[in-house]
Amino acid sequence: MSSTADVEPGVENAGIIPVYNPSTEQRIGEVADSDQQAVDAAVARARETFESGVWRKLPAAHRADVLFRAAEIIKARTDELAELEAQDNGMNATAARHIIKVSQEMLVYYAGWVGKIHGESANLVSDGLLGTFENYHTFTQLEPVGVVGLIIPWNGPFFIAMLKVAPALAAGCSAVLKPAEETPLSALKLEEIFRAAGLPDGVLTVITGYGETTGAALTAHPDVDKIAFTGSTEVGKLIVKAAAGNLKRLTLELGGKSPLIMFDDADLSRAIMGAGMGLLAGSGQNCSCTSRMYVQRGIYEQVVEGLAGFARMLPMGGSEDPNSVLGPLISQKQRERVDGIVREGVSKGAEIITGGKPLDRPGYFYEATIVTGTTPDMRLIREEIFGPVGSVIPFDDEDEVIAAANDTHYGLAGSIWTENLGRAHRVLNELRAGQVWVNSALASDPSMPICGHKQSGWGGERGKKGLESYFNTKSVYIGH
Ligand code: NAI
Ligand code: MG
Repeated sequence: MSSTADVEPGVENAGIIPVYNPSTEQRIGEVADSDQQAVDAAVARARETFESGVWRKLPAAHRADVLFRAAEIIKARTDELAELEAQDNGMNATAARHIIKVSQEMLVYYAGWVGKIHGESANLVSDGLLGTFENYHTFTQLEPVGVVGLIIPWNGPFFIAMLKVAPALAAGCSAVLKPAEETPLSALKLEEIFRAAGLPDGVLTVITGYGETTGAALTAHPDVDKIAFTGSTEVGKLIVKAAAGNLKRLTLELGGKSPLIMFDDADLSRAIMGAGMGLLAGSGQNCSCTSRMYVQRGIYEQVVEGLAGFARMLPMGGSEDPNSVLGPLISQKQRERVDGIVREGVSKGAEIITGGKPLDRPGYFYEATIVTGTTPDMRLIREEIFGPVGSVIPFDDEDEVIAAANDTHYGLAGSIWTENLGRAHRVLNELRAGQVWVNSALASDPSMPICGHKQSGWGGERGKKGLESYFNTKSVYIGH
């Protein structure tokens, strides 16, 4: 078996990264492994465009027009982009078309913000402390933060690229985007699409490469003002260190280990389906997936059985299969990691209700897996798995389940299932998570920010908050 994980950065294949379809293990292309010189050149181009103002100083209507035009191009090219995304990531065409659609909607959302975000002003009457002037005119203005480095992972790559590119360009920044080494293809199209829409050359450059080399060079670069990163908490911490050199601004969207809490008054059929999708969407390769499922004792047996049935029923297949719901994992390395976490749990007494092993076919498929009998120390409960593996854990009362749900370093998301509104409010207030769903899982909208609590991240993406992170604020005092 071959995978991108088998290729040592810079050893054999110097200068080239092979790209595989994870659902077939077929090599589908290759991209450049960009070195320090290539990173320097991309950053220099971005800096030049930022300083010249060729983008940030354009009239807002003109900039909005470019973004809307790019959104139109993406809509018109949906089939082609979806096909590429499916080949690159292994997901099926239906899922890939959805990714392109929500990416296009994200761009439209941020295009609509251009020219509509302003500073504030105050009527400030001084008592003399401010100096010799008695009255000041004061205001704040928002200024694009500068050259931004955008680093993204392999799950839904086109969408996660857009989550960063759209607000960065809407704010007037110049950007260098580095996609994951596993899935570089659709991001490369973005540069071409924005150029066709009228974005001046050099304002957005996509550079491919490995994280440890190309990514690290971008994060440490003294002429990059901000890094927006989505990926593992481990790499998030490396980026914090690398950013210290010039104190870059950081937006970090990191891992999660999100709880789902199902009370005995929930609408069970909806709750089981919601929990199943919350766990298994993207084959669990989703930072907000709810892989710790706490179920109240009275309905526990029924829910375990229901979830196992749901997991068994989901059709599995690769990019070529229009009916599949569960696709492959991204690489052999990721599949081994997922299986290792399951094996560790089993060796400590966890019980596999369904699934629990790789599929015997080409592609990095892993069965949808439901586990019981876990203990809080197991990796199944502590670590982000990034695979189709969930644990079901019984509980008795609200206080107990809140404590268990919050017993994690992560704080990305949570899901609560109950028909009791008071209970929903009590529990959502106590969950230490940046995003909570009640009687839902994985709902999202461009206007709603996602801001990881605890070690799930710094700052936020989406919504007005996400856009604001691409600005610096300047306070101005005008005396007279
Ligand atoms: P990763 O965090 O290593 O990779 C994400 C991105 O960061 C890629 O573009 C990679 O090239 C880049 N990168 C890696 N090392 C870097 C460095 N030192 N400096 C700058 N950029 C660097 O994630 P990986 O290894 O692909 O997956 C490992 C685990 O991370 C997964 O099993 C999952 O638990 C978690 N993960 C979480 C994601 C999320 O959305 N929260 C997304 C992807 C992975
Ligand atoms: Mg890594």
